[in-house]
Amino acid sequence: MAPVHIPVLAEETIKALAVQPGGRYIDCTLGGGGHAANILEHSSPGGQLLGIDADPKAVETAMQNLARYDSITLVNANFVNLEAICYKYDFVPVHGILFDLGLSSLQLAESERGFSFQQKAPLDMRFNPDQEQTAADIVNSYSEAELARLIKLYGEEIYSRAIARRIVQERPLNTTTELARIVERAVGGRRGKIHPATKTFQALRIAVNHELENLESALKQAVNLLGYEGKLVVISYHSLEDRIVKHFMQQEAKDCICPPTTPTCVCGHTARLKLINKRVITPSEEELKDNPRSRSAKLRAAERIITEDEHYNLVERLGSAPEVKANGNGWRRPTLLKMLRAAFDTVSTGSNTALRQGGLNM
Ligand SMILES: C[S@@+](CC[C@H](N)C(=O)[O-])C[C@H]1O[C@@H](n2cnc3c(N)ncnc32)[C@H](O)[C@@H]1O
Repeated sequence: MAPVHIPVLAEETIKALAVQPGGRYIDCTLGGGGHAANILEHSSPGGQLLGIDADPKAVETAMQNLARYDSITLVNANFVNLEAICYKYDFVPVHGILFDLGLSSLQLAESERGFSFQQKAPLDMRFNPDQEQTAADIVNSYSEAELARLIKLYGEEIYSRAIARRIVQERPLNTTTELARIVERAVGGRRGKIHPATKTFQALRIAVNHELENLESALKQAVNLLGYEGKLVVISYHSLEDRIVKHFMQQEAKDCICPPTTPTCVCGHTARLKLINKRVITPSEEELKDNPRSRSAKLRAAERIITEDEHYNLVERLGSAPEVKANGNGWRRPTLLKMLRAAFDTVSTGSNTALRQGGLNM
């Protein structure tokens, strides 16, 4: 049987996104389209989905799996360009944005991608094969100190120096199994259930795909795209990702981010998010039994808070989204009315004209 990717925390995701009929959603990590299909089911009738994945194969698979749905736009791109993608496809503002980070079971099962140390394959690990740098490039060109730093930082590996030393002694390394064997030897063999190369492989994958930098950048962009009461939902699979998500949401939920020693606020920061779940959501016992790969998953969710200015910007953006003006699309009407009234009360005549030309149908 062909491998499938079982969406993790599926029900919890729909609940956290508060998926509603007619809503518009972005799935930034489409994978096999599992979460996307759930979102489309729950947003029917009238729901719209923009799905993004850096891996062209994932987009192809999702296209097949989502063929029965009409209102979908699937894009092979990196979510580091989230805002540009959404503006290109006129997909602003949105009711919810999902990030289900990391790699899918499908990618892990494609041995030639080099994500797994279980099968012999080139040391690749790129989500997008058009990208230049592979894991082999890093392993064979970085200095011992750079490798040790990378493995410690992104793998949280206490034996990083020993591993880096061994890699440098034995390179060039070209395959996953070669690297796994070297790491195993460097740490003095296997202990426990987890393979000793797990953390080194994680570190290389994070570095090859710039995963942490891309996540930080995309989270900031995501907030700008959320409409009134829009939800941001992130599922992460290791502590480095989760730390970024937790810190980001907590900071964005504060009205002031000055250091505690500052006598009066000088940052001018205002909260743009409200935490939906103060505690992280993890898989149930039942899900862990059915899908052991879900064991490290952590879901965090937050809701957009909108200021008067952002209200106005939002309305302007609504005017630029043809699907929204054509069918009212899921934004609750009382809210839309309230927003329009606020905007018409506060903007100049010139801007009002622009809004009307935008053709908002009420
Ligand atoms: C855990 S899988 C998603 C599975 C999907 N939610 C499902 O239910 O089938 C993560 C996906 O995110 C993609 N991905 C990771 N980083 C990305 C990035 N920066 N931009 C776009 N896609 C990315 C990977 O290629 C992978 O397909």
